[in-house]
This record gives sequence, structure tokens and C-alpha cells, in this order.
Amino acid sequence: MSEKEHKVSRRQFLSYALMGVGGFMAAATVSPMVRFALDPALDAGGDTEFVNVATVDELTEEPQRFDFKVEVEDAWYTSEQSRTAWIYKEGDKVIALSPVCTHLGCTVNWDTNEDHPNQFFCPCHLGRFEKSGQNVANTPPTRPLDLYDTKLEDGNVLLGGTIQRRTV
Ligand code: FES
Repeated sequence: MSEKEHKVSRRQFLSYALMGVGGFMAAATVSPMVRFALDPALDAGGDTEFVNVATVDELTEEPQRFDFKVEVEDAWYTSEQSRTAWIYKEGDKVIALSPVCTHLGCTVNWDTNEDHPNQFFCPCHLGRFEKSGQNVANTPPTRPLDLYDTKLEDGNVLLGGTIQRRTV
């Protein structure tokens, strides 16, 4: 083979370079999707630390608001962020709901709409949710409130990440 045949033309070089860049960008885009497809727990905040939020004794069958802080690790630094949960008891079970409306992310409150008592109400677009967090039909939200991953330890209520639920 002659030396001339070994030479890479400028056109070939550019097309190899573009393929390399394109491949890198495709890998960067697809790999997080594959990660979440293979491990749905990650999407559910499965790698979030549990935080002590309340004692079981404080809970009633009526949802109560609890504010707490979590440490969030970014690639370069750790920051403290505020979180809120609506928590109540149902027999032996403890239910902890996210206050983030599943329509466009406003904050829901419990039992604040006189026309619809004993529901979570979102003032932004009049979204409503049952006590279980189930979205009320014919209101803007199309899926239930997220649930917090919950653990009970020594009479304390510990919350982890949130878990998305689908409408049943
Ligand atoms: S953000 Fe809650 S109803 Fe629109």
C-alpha cells in the first residue's frame, strides 16, 4: 500500500470527527434514560437519605403539615433544601404525601376549600385531590400526589424520596 493511500483526506477526517462528537452526544443523552429505565427506584428518589420528620404520636387521622430539611448533594457541593409533607395515620399505616400539585407544581393545602371539604386543594387552577392523594376527576391534575418513601423507627417517622403514582 502506498503512503498516499494511507493519508486521510480532510473530508474523511472531518466526517470521523463529526461521528465521534455525534456518538459522544448520543451517549450523553441516552445513558441517563437507560439508567432510569433499568432502575425505576432512582426515579422514585430511591437514593435519597431518610430524614426524621415527626413522631408517630404526633400523627392523627387528619393530614397535618410537617416541614423539614434535606441535604442535597450536587456533583460539586452539598446544600440544604426545605421540604414539606402532609402526613396522617390510617390504622397501623402512615401515609406521607408530597404537597406538590401534579398539574403545574403549585402547593396544595388540606381542607381549605369550603365547597370541597376534606380534600387537598390547589389554588392555582382549582385542582383537587382526595385524602389518599388520588386526583379528583375533572380537575386539572391528571395523576395522584406523590408519596414519600416512609419508614417507622423507634416511634419516629422517617421520610426518603418521593414516589410517583399513576392514576388507577
Ligand atoms: S398547579 Fe395545581 S391545579 Fe394547576
